Amino acid sequence: MNERKAKILALAGKGGVGKTSLASAMVRVLTEEFPGSRVLAIDADPAVGLSTALGVTVTSTLDDIRRAVVASAEDGRPREAIEMLNESRFRIFDAMVETKGFSFLAIGRPENEGCFCSVNAYLKEVVSMLAGDFDFVVIDGEAGVEQIQRRVMEKVSHLILISDQSRKGTHVAETIKDVADELVMYERIGAIINRVTNPELNGFISVKGVDILAFIPADDQQAANDIRGGSIFDLPAGSTVLDGVREALRKIEILS
Ligand SMILES: Nc1ncnc2c1ncn2[C@@H]1O[C@H](COP(=O)(O)OP(=O)(O)OP(=O)(O)O)[C@@H](O)[C@H]1O
Ligand SMILES: [Mg+2]
Repeated sequence: MNERKAKILALAGKGGVGKTSLASAMVRVLTEEFPGSRVLAIDADPAVGLSTALGVTVTSTLDDIRRAVVASAEDGRPREAIEMLNESRFRIFDAMVETKGFSFLAIGRPENEGCFCSVNAYLKEVVSMLAGDFDFVVIDGEAGVEQIQRRVMEKVSHLILISDQSRKGTHVAETIKDVADELVMYERIGAIINRVTNPELNGFISVKGVDILAFIPADDQQAANDIRGGSIFDLPAGSTVLDGVREALRKIEILS
């Protein structure tokens, strides 16, 4: 494995606050600001969405790969985890969609209902494994605190909490921070308040112990683009969401 150490950004927060939209915006901004750098986008939400937001078509998911690797091991002796990961590595690079200057990987949705934890555990190993091959990894997380609790995000270097203006949203962000303080080895943490409709009330908003990196207004262009089924690459360069994300990435010192 090479020495390069990726900045691993993960977005977390309450449902529906804009994690996927802002994750896609981060991927676009990183590819624009650091042309030639290796950017990996990971959709860690089984409900899927980042592929649409980025305009990529998913052919094979991490869950498919996990199954294939497990199945190939079932012929004989159980294999060591490291051996499984080495085989995964091939298959993952094969399955990655490479386009528009970034690579894309989706966790997928396990077919059998119920426990999602094994693919989550696998995701955690895969993130560590791939970190050496990329400059930036952007992970669009599942809503809520569970993936933090299950240590899927353990290796994340930049944890970005997303909320709307609601108390409920900032409360979820605070809960995630508390859990992450125990379970994530993050270097930097910050919050983005998204879909702001009452900017005059921004002074009332706080996320305990976390700097607010940006307040991003509710943006008609973003909403319309979503309705049309457009991707983040269809938004004009100076759009509110892209500017807001650029500001947040500057504050957290990913951009200078
Ligand atoms: N700044 C914004 N202005 C207007 N609409 C926005 C903004 N940010 C996100 N949206 C819209 O809000 C909706 C929810 O956003 P998104 O899917 O990104 O949230 P999420 O946190 O990923 O949701 P989930 O928890 O379901 O995964 C989408 O229709 C999206 O286009
Ligand atoms: Mg989402």
